[in-house]
Amino acid sequence: SPAAAAPGTGTAPLVIAHRGASAYAPENTLAAVDKAAELGIGWVENDVQRTRDGALVVLHDDNLRRTTDAEEVFPGRAPWKVKDFTAAEIARLDAGSWFGPAYAGARVPTLEQFVHRVERHHQKLLLEIKNPELYPGIEQQTLKVLSNEGWLDRAHLEGRLIMQSFSAGSVRTVHELKPGVKTGFLGTPRVADLSVYAGFTDQINPSYSTLSRAYVSSVQALDGPHGRPLEVFTWTVDEAATAQRVAGYGVDGIITNRPDAVREAVGG
Ligand code: G3P
Ligand code: CA
Repeated sequence: SPAAAAPGTGTAPLVIAHRGASAYAPENTLAAVDKAAELGIGWVENDVQRTRDGALVVLHDDNLRRTTDAEEVFPGRAPWKVKDFTAAEIARLDAGSWFGPAYAGARVPTLEQFVHRVERHHQKLLLEIKNPELYPGIEQQTLKVLSNEGWLDRAHLEGRLIMQSFSAGSVRTVHELKPGVKTGFLGTPRVADLSVYAGFTDQINPSYSTLSRAYVSSVQALDGPHGRPLEVFTWTVDEAATAQRVAGYGVDGIITNRPDAVREAVGG
């Protein structure tokens, strides 16, 4: 009989649409969520930050310049930091024209709007708390919004929500505030340090450029805070050959701007 598959290599990795299907629609907009749904992609990643008046919005950069028309709408407000604008001001911005005329008028979504859209499509959410050092208390606030939206019920906790951050402190805070939430740490800790991370994170999510088969195995050999093996979601993989290579390492998920191409490359 054929040899049993090595741990972690038995099934195709999950495919996660990075900032939505962001190769095809403007990143972190509702259109990018819709595009992922159109492609049949079940998981969507996003980036959450906070406005001056305390609203949570979905945007990657700490400033509005690259993905909105903030410089035109609010000249003289350099350096156009998200945290210096109110939610009402940000709601006026065009977050689609930079990507293409077909998306003119796309908005920067609030976290509520983004979650509603993910829910409408019955998708799952990989939520990144971005730049938490700029937004004290954002972990608790994000959990409150998710709770209000019904996303901390058992059905969501058991397979539809993961919260991740590049900040280990932020991941630990989420875990301590709401231990039922599955968490991920963005980065590549030294193997010797992984057991510390396993106390508060369910996933170690490294850049693909740092990845090896041995590293993936070292991560998956440890149990996380919920008594299950740590998982690896890697980013941001848009090339078929790279997707096949990391799938061969046994990663649990691939975060990609081109989820259709990656799914085609790795199956699933
Ligand atoms: O989900 C992983 C990836 O999004 C981390 O990098 O800069 O795209 O947020 P970044
Ligand atoms: Ca991200």
